[in-house]
Amino acid sequence: MGTLESAGAFDKIKDMIKEDNKRLLRVVYWVKDLEMTIKFYTECLGMKLLEKHDHPLEKCTSAFLGYGPRDTHFIVELKFYHGISEFNLGTGFGHIGINVEDIFKSLALIKSKGGKVVRDALQVKGASTICAFVEDPNGYEIELLQRSFHGDPFCQVMLRVLDLDHAIAFYKKAFGMQTLRTLELQLPGTKWRLAFLGYGPEDKTTVLELNSIFGVTEYDKGNTYVQLVIGTNNIDKMSKTLQEFGGEITQELDVQGNSTKTLSILDPNGWKLVFVKNVASTKDGCN
Ligand code: CO
Repeated sequence: MGTLESAGAFDKIKDMIKEDNKRLLRVVYWVKDLEMTIKFYTECLGMKLLEKHDHPLEKCTSAFLGYGPRDTHFIVELKFYHGISEFNLGTGFGHIGINVEDIFKSLALIKSKGGKVVRDALQVKGASTICAFVEDPNGYEIELLQRSFHGDPFCQVMLRVLDLDHAIAFYKKAFGMQTLRTLELQLPGTKWRLAFLGYGPEDKTTVLELNSIFGVTEYDKGNTYVQLVIGTNNIDKMSKTLQEFGGEITQELDVQGNSTKTLSILDPNGWKLVFVKNVASTKDGCN
């Protein structure tokens, strides 16, 4: 009897986990030159252009790029606003991370296409990972990582935070993320603390990287980062949990008839994240 009960309880937990099924879906940011950016992401990073939509009312064009269909892969949505010239990258949005097979080959390709290498390949002491930083045509930093991985090449989104421990606790409690790894890094003149959080192992899923620089008390968020989108099956239960743990809900959208529900929140550092119901396609406008 006892065994049966335990088995039943375990099934329930398993069902809940399965039912919840949270996943990082996409990162959204503005670009200055859409065509140049698409060219760079496809030719230098090997992404595919998945979809492109014009939104005449909002005077914007969205391009979706990634390494596979949006139903199964993490992707980037590039937004181009017609007629807006003020473009401030700020200092808070860090980078996206891309796993590559051969980092030296990737760097050579990027250089040959006129791309800018910000930091050449560097092997972290005691680790097998080799990483480098390049810049896309808008000035966004992109980290290239050569290491053992079995998932999507699109592996990280990095945001800078002031209080790393506070941010980790928030994402753990309010978002249900796991802390996969934390570390401290030092280069002459700078020291950082990093945390990698997510909904699955780091070598198989895309993760959120949080970074805090010692001694920095303020970041300029700029105006180009839009949001990080996360899919969940339990969106109705999210708003209570989010508020309880210090997330500020900025918009709750329930579009009747097409089963789209989104929940926009600001994390304790003011970064915008959006939960959407796990459906195959989430066509949204320019916000
Ligand atoms: Co990174």
